[in-house]
Amino acid sequence: MRRDPLAYLTAELDILKEQGLYRQLRVLDGEQKPTTSFDHRQVVNLSSNNYLGLTTHPRLRERALDATRTLGVGTGSVRTIAGTMAIHVELERRLAAFKNTEAVVVFQSGFAANAGTVAAILTKDDVVVSDELNHASIVDGCRLSRATIKVFPHRDVDAARKVLAALPAGQRKLLITDGVFSMDGDLGALPALCQLAEESGCIMMVDDAHASGVFGRNGRGTIDHFGVHGRVDIQVGTLSKAIGVLGGYVAGSRALVEFLHHRARPFLFSTSHPPAVAAACIAAIDVLEQEPELIERLWENTRFFKAGLASLGFSTGSSESPITPVIVGEGALAMKLSDALFAKGVFAQGIGFPTVARDKARVRTIVTATHTRDELQFALDVFATVGRDLGII
Ligand SMILES: Cc1ncc(COP(=O)(O)O)c(C=O)c1O
Repeated sequence: MRRDPLAYLTAELDILKEQGLYRQLRVLDGEQKPTTSFDHRQVVNLSSNNYLGLTTHPRLRERALDATRTLGVGTGSVRTIAGTMAIHVELERRLAAFKNTEAVVVFQSGFAANAGTVAAILTKDDVVVSDELNHASIVDGCRLSRATIKVFPHRDVDAARKVLAALPAGQRKLLITDGVFSMDGDLGALPALCQLAEESGCIMMVDDAHASGVFGRNGRGTIDHFGVHGRVDIQVGTLSKAIGVLGGYVAGSRALVEFLHHRARPFLFSTSHPPAVAAACIAAIDVLEQEPELIERLWENTRFFKAGLASLGFSTGSSESPITPVIVGEGALAMKLSDALFAKGVFAQGIGFPTVARDKARVRTIVTATHTRDELQFALDVFATVGRDLGII
């Protein structure tokens, strides 16, 4: 009989089970909503990135249905062959106007945008200087580029300055940070890093995945929030989180975008978005421009929930965004906390190594504009009960 060459994977999974770190995928039974059913259990949902509730917004739904009726369900090609539809171009034009940049290129996901861009613009002779907590898609892009990777401690601009000072003057270098860090909810050290990039002649890049639709005027992101327009060469955003649909984009100069058309491998070698996706994203920009009260509600809910968790005595780190981690330390304890919350009607995903450091496991909470006060208060009450039962508070 043939020996299973993948048997080692089962052994690895058994180790995760022994360590209490094995996860079953939770299955969402219906729509992505603030109270919804996962695994046939009704829960207050604190785990989605659906910051503004746009996944089910009527305007997005209608535009997606309309585009499907008139343009079909797929594009049948990559963008560079026959898969660029007028609706893709319209989305890019709207995004560029929204972000106040010369041009935008949309990728299939935020992951593809980050990894594809970093890998395309750097070579093995270049250096990338990257915050230690930058997203995995940035890390993978850096690895794919084969550039030398220099990591600086989280938000430590002085450390980044020392790294840059040690490099030859003519060296091509990229300084890169998340706008909002996805596991801690704190913000990239933006004005200071822009200053550093200018002083040291670096390309400056910001991944604004969790800031798009959340920070800045009408959700224009951290570049707008910090008033650093024109000082960030490459802005990445997602269409998959607050925008409620799917995709990622790069906003910058016309030359950057045209270069990515020719060299970014996910753009070149993967089929473009169905028309419904592009249409729904255009409708989302309309909503951002015309319904700013959604973002106001998101921030009111964020302040209420953060204050509630902190007053219960949980360790919530230094978040400045709607992402609030409840840090417990041990991976197994985070999973236990997440499971106990779920059993009592609250879904907050446990997150451990390798997504966060081994001793910084947590459950991550994300509130949305569409949570009601009652839902958030219920969640806080459950956190209080379970936190005390497990000796966390
Ligand atoms: C900081 C950050 N960048 C990029 C991404 C990737 O975005 P997407 O889900 O659109 O691929 C994520 C999402 O997980 C993220 O948190």
